[in-house]
Order: sequence, then C-alpha cells, then structure tokens
Amino acid sequence: MITARSFSRHLLFFFLFLFPLVPAIAQQSAAPAVSPQAHAVRATTDPWWKHAVIYEIYPRSFQDSDGDGLGDINGITARLDYLQDLGIDAIWITPLYPSPQVDFGYDVSDYVSIDPAYGTLADFDRLVREAKKRNIRLIMDFVVNHTSDRHAWFVESRFSRDNPKRDWYIWRDGKAPGQPPNNWLSWFGYSAWQLDPKTNQYYYHHFYVQQPDLNWRNTEVRQAMYGVMRFWLDRGASGFRLDAVTRLFEDPELHDDPILPGKNAYGDPNIQHKYTDNLPEVHDVLREMRKVIDSYPGNPVLVSEADQPNITELTKMYGRGNDEVQLPMDFQVADVNRLSAPEFRRLLDEVENNSADGQPHYFFSNHDQPRQWDRYGDGTHNDQIAKLMAALLLTTRATPQMYYGEELGMRTTPPARKEDVQDPIGKIGWPQEKGRDGERTPMQWDASKNAGFSAALKTWLPVPPSAAQYNVAAERKDPNSILNFYKRLLALRRSNAALRDGAYITLSREDANVLSFLRKNPWTGESVLVALNMSAQPQTVSFDLAQYGLKEKTTATLLTAPESAATEIALAGITIPPFGVLILRVR
Ligand code: GLC
Ligand code: MG
Repeated sequence: MITARSFSRHLLFFFLFLFPLVPAIAQQSAAPAVSPQAHAVRATTDPWWKHAVIYEIYPRSFQDSDGDGLGDINGITARLDYLQDLGIDAIWITPLYPSPQVDFGYDVSDYVSIDPAYGTLADFDRLVREAKKRNIRLIMDFVVNHTSDRHAWFVESRFSRDNPKRDWYIWRDGKAPGQPPNNWLSWFGYSAWQLDPKTNQYYYHHFYVQQPDLNWRNTEVRQAMYGVMRFWLDRGASGFRLDAVTRLFEDPELHDDPILPGKNAYGDPNIQHKYTDNLPEVHDVLREMRKVIDSYPGNPVLVSEADQPNITELTKMYGRGNDEVQLPMDFQVADVNRLSAPEFRRLLDEVENNSADGQPHYFFSNHDQPRQWDRYGDGTHNDQIAKLMAALLLTTRATPQMYYGEELGMRTTPPARKEDVQDPIGKIGWPQEKGRDGERTPMQWDASKNAGFSAALKTWLPVPPSAAQYNVAAERKDPNSILNFYKRLLALRRSNAALRDGAYITLSREDANVLSFLRKNPWTGESVLVALNMSAQPQTVSFDLAQYGLKEKTTATLLTAPESAATEIALAGITIPPFGVLILRVR
C-alpha cells in the first residue's frame, strides 16, 4: 500500500541514497575500460567482510572433544582444517559465555568468560590463533538486549529498589495488584513482565523470564557493554553478531501494544510489537558500537540479527553514511519459503535499488529456523534444490552466511516426543511449536557412532538418521554430492573477478520460472551469467546481452548442476533441467 507518507519517504530515499549513485552507474556502463591496476587497488581497499563467506557454528553441536555429548571449543579447533578446505573465511559462533543455558547460551551470566562446558579462555585464545593461521576470522555472538537472571548485574538489581544497579534493567509497578504494567507479550510466550516479590515490582523480559532486558537508556549499561566489546576485540575477535538488536528499547510511557486478530502458538492474542521493537534509539547505540569497533585495526565487522519487516527498515541498519552495521542480515530473502523466481527477483532488485551503498548479507538457514534442505525442498528433488539454494546464496553480490551442515544437505529433525524436547519454546508451545531442536542436531562427520560428533553414549540432541548417508566422509568421495558442489562454488566465488566484484544485473524480468542475472565486473568487463530454474520442469531460455556491452553468443561452462559435459553453451535456446543451475562465463 502506498500512502502519502511512504511515498515521500521513497522520494527522500532517492535523494539521499540513490541520487548520488546515478552518475557512478552511468559511468560504469559507458566506460568499463579501466586499467587492471585500478582493479587491483580497489580489491585491496575493500574490507575483508565484503568478500567473506561467514559460517555459523552452533558450538553445542559441531564437535565434542571430551566425550560429554556436548560440542566444545577444542572440538571446533580440531575441525578448522575442514573449514579451511571447504573455503570459508569467518566463523560466527553462537554464545560461548557462561550461562545457565536456559536459552542455550542466549542467557549470559558473564560476558567476559567462557562457559566451562565449552572450555576455557585459553582454549578460546588457541582457537583464535589456529583460525588465524588458516585465514579464518572469528565473529562473537553478542547478546545485547538481555542478560541471564543469574548475571551479577541482575542479582544486584533485583536486591532492592535503591540498589545502584536497579536502573540497569526495566523495573515498573504493576497497573493494579496482580496486574502487570501493560499488555506487552514475550516473544517466547505470555506476559513480558515478571513480578519479583522481593521488591514487589515487575521486570521486563522480551524473551524468557530468565532473560531480563537491560536498560539501554542507562549510560553505565552502555559503557559496560562497550567494555565487553573491547575485551573480545583485544583477544582477537574480528567482530560481533548483534543478537536481537532491534529489541533494545521500549516505550518509556508503556503504551499497550496493538492487538491483532488471531492467537499465537502459546494461546496469547497476536500483538504488534509496536512499542518494544525497532525504536529509533536503537540507531544511537549502533553508531556508538560502530565507533568502538572502528577504533580497532583490521576492519572488525558488525552483523545484525534483525528481522526487519521491509527493505526501508533494513536499509536504515547501515546508518546514514554507513556509520552503523556493515552486514545487516536480510530476513526477507531468507524467508521467502518457496521457490519463486519472481519473488526472489523482486527482493534482490529491491536490495539493489535501496541499499546499493551498503553490502547485502544473505542466508537461508540458522539455529532459529528450519533448515533450507526441507524448507525449500519439494520432497522429491531436495538434493538438487539444495544445490540451487547454494548457487543462489553464493553467486549474488551479497556477503553469504552459511549454517553448519547445510553444505551436506542436513535436514530439520525435530523431536518426536514432548519428553525429548530441549528448547524451552518447544516445551511451552508443544505440539504446535516444537522448538528449534530440529535445526540444532549434531554435525554429521561420518557414518560411525554419533556421526563422528562425539564418543559419548548419549549426545545432547540425537544424531538424525540421515547421517548414515549425508556426512562429510561419504560426500567427499561422491563427486556429485552437495558438499562437493559447495566446495566448487566456494572456490569459484573466490577466484572469479566477476563473481567477486561484479555488479548485479537482473535478466529476463518476465520469466516466471528461471531466475537469471549477470555479474559484470565494471573494471575488467568479465561477466558471469547465473540461471536458476526454480521449477520442476525443464525450461528453455535465451539471452541477448548486447545491451550490457556483451556481444558474445556463446559462453564457457563454469559450474552446472546437474553436471553437464558441455564446455561451451550458446546463449540462445539453453534448456535447463528441473531445479537446474547454470553458471556460465560470458567473458
Ligand atoms: C536471537 C537468537 C535466538 C535467541 C533469542 C533470544 O533471536 O538467535 O536463538 O533465543 O535471540 O536471545
Ligand atoms: Mg564436550
């Protein structure tokens, strides 16, 4: 719906962000003939994260080194060679800090230490050193919105109304005896307010009761949290993934959130989190955090977890003049949840037209949502679709983020019985909401006991039956495996100048089944054409690239799935098999 307000916002965007780019774009298409030196200069000035592939590790499930059924830091270190060989550049590890593990680490009780279940600070330092030897950077998960209720700060805060740390959290009186301050709901079910009998006030928790929200309007809180950032940067971290960062502020007037039709999985009415999410002050904090990381050498990066509702909100995360987050995760692209060429084309175009100045950041799977193998699979061609999704993730201009095991075609394996559920959301929401255990199962290394993940009798989550067939050892040997496709794709992305630096140009706008685009390096003219058949039928396509300054009629095959024997493919009348992938060098 275009309202007068949103229309004027679009105009404003055009002038603020797009207008200055128009001459640059015109220049690019008119005169790509720049000396190779110019290209080299540009390549070296790009920050590392612009070309990096980030790989998310859920430490509980990656590799257990001490036989307790739980993954750990030394386990990750032991698998660095695998990651290097795969071809990734950075790992983001979900929280390793001491935690009562109510939300599996997203309830931090000490930000400047390591949970003994995962190891020690010395183990962490060794991981950083060993990763560095392999050119792999480490991104810390920074849980900024809330702490654990066992954090010393909260223990003090709840002690008395006049405790010096009282204001570090959000405390309010009830509306009336037995009634919370307002109707705000927790993301994880029920009221977001918890009465603390000791002082007879309520504290606010956007997530679980055991995750009280910090008060980011308190300057001591801010300073303490920026100190945490320095602590990890000093130890060699290359940046932070900011957890749930849009939830930092709540309306100080405590307005009730608007009620929407229907009920959620927990039986509460649906509400719009209007007064507890995405408040403008979030951007002040992001600017301050950016200043902290910018005071360190080596271009540390901020990655934001923010399921922004639209491109306008997402674009704001970069900040005016790019002074906030460098890599805001794009949840619109992640959650299309069906193979639709027009829908992906629309979203990728939106990104190109709005955040052209900021670096896009795409992903499909993570520890909070069902894995892409089944979410995008059709039940018949899932392995082929896994390759299609890999090609989509790894050939656009965006910095890609992978989730451990997606390179194997790991699938979502939720618990069958309520008694087996680990994730509290699943315990509260069963059976409608089974929780997130299904996407957190152990990494599948080989076909031995526990898939090579652990020597324990019982692992914290069971190893899925699919591990017998889908594992690193088996897939290494199979030239047609998902793993080998990822490896070839990652190597290509690294070595090909068009895929690395090229602009993104949408092709065949009207095609309902095939998503096609060109990556064209404006400095060298090198060009790669990507065509992804998102349908279950073969599709025949033709391309005339003359308007992009490419007169070629044939292309060289770089990578296809299913594998094609042809080394040369004409640009007219190409037939792409069901869910087929074509990556072709035009020039
Ligand atoms: C983020 C995390 C999720 C966690 C929540 C609360 O969404 O990704 O796993 O439960 O924040 O910290
Ligand atoms: Mg262990």
